[in-house]
Amino acid sequence: MDKKITIAIDGFSSTGKSTLAKELAKELGYVYVDTGAMYRAVTFFAMKSGYIAKDFFEVQLLINSLKIIKLEFKFNPELGFAEMYLNDVNIEKEIRTLEVSSYVSKVAEISQVRAKLVEQQQEMGKNKGIVMDGRDIGTVVFPDADLKIFMTASPLTRAERRFKELTRNGDTVTFEAVLKNVQERDYIDTHREDSPLVKANDAIEFDNSNITKQEQFLKIMKLIKS
Ligand code: DC
Repeated sequence: MDKKITIAIDGFSSTGKSTLAKELAKELGYVYVDTGAMYRAVTFFAMKSGYIAKDFFEVQLLINSLKIIKLEFKFNPELGFAEMYLNDVNIEKEIRTLEVSSYVSKVAEISQVRAKLVEQQQEMGKNKGIVMDGRDIGTVVFPDADLKIFMTASPLTRAERRFKELTRNGDTVTFEAVLKNVQERDYIDTHREDSPLVKANDAIEFDNSNITKQEQFLKIMKLIKS
């Protein structure tokens, strides 16, 4: 395919968006951007700075610090994908914990945070040839994307996937805690005022509770070629 396009993948957490997006980017020779990693990086910054914890959130202090937060993706050839850097430090592993997951939706509600990250995302995608996944890519970041995919799966299926991923990475978590986190994030992500998670009118919906990753990948490649 000669003409480069923009592919927007949105959907609920742990629906396999990033796996799919990575595979598509690899197949097409496109750049892959995991926007969730950017919201997670800002959350990690807030945690490290002592702005957010179990019972408090100093929203204004985080907003004031946004100008000193530098986010970058650097491609790791050994892994075959880009890793997240916060102020020149690789934080790819740190941002995947359940603790970060438990605060990230609160950080993603802040309009000033969204404005900063959306601007950077639009800049990254200005030359097309990009696969970007998140919650608002087809609705806010690239409303004119050439292909929009909206992914869903049942909360139970998603919590099972997430539980396996976390325990594989050595996180000691209970399945109940993971399921609760998935449900809470679904609620906050779909009910926030600024850029809530909704399916764009022209997005194609995929419920992947019962299809394999390979089947899904082939279906979507077919769509891209057509
Ligand atoms: O994709 P993820 O689970 O890593 O995303 C983490 C959180 O970031 C998610 O709960 C909502 C938020 N997010 C967002 O609000 N907008 C995006 N484009 C991507 C993620």
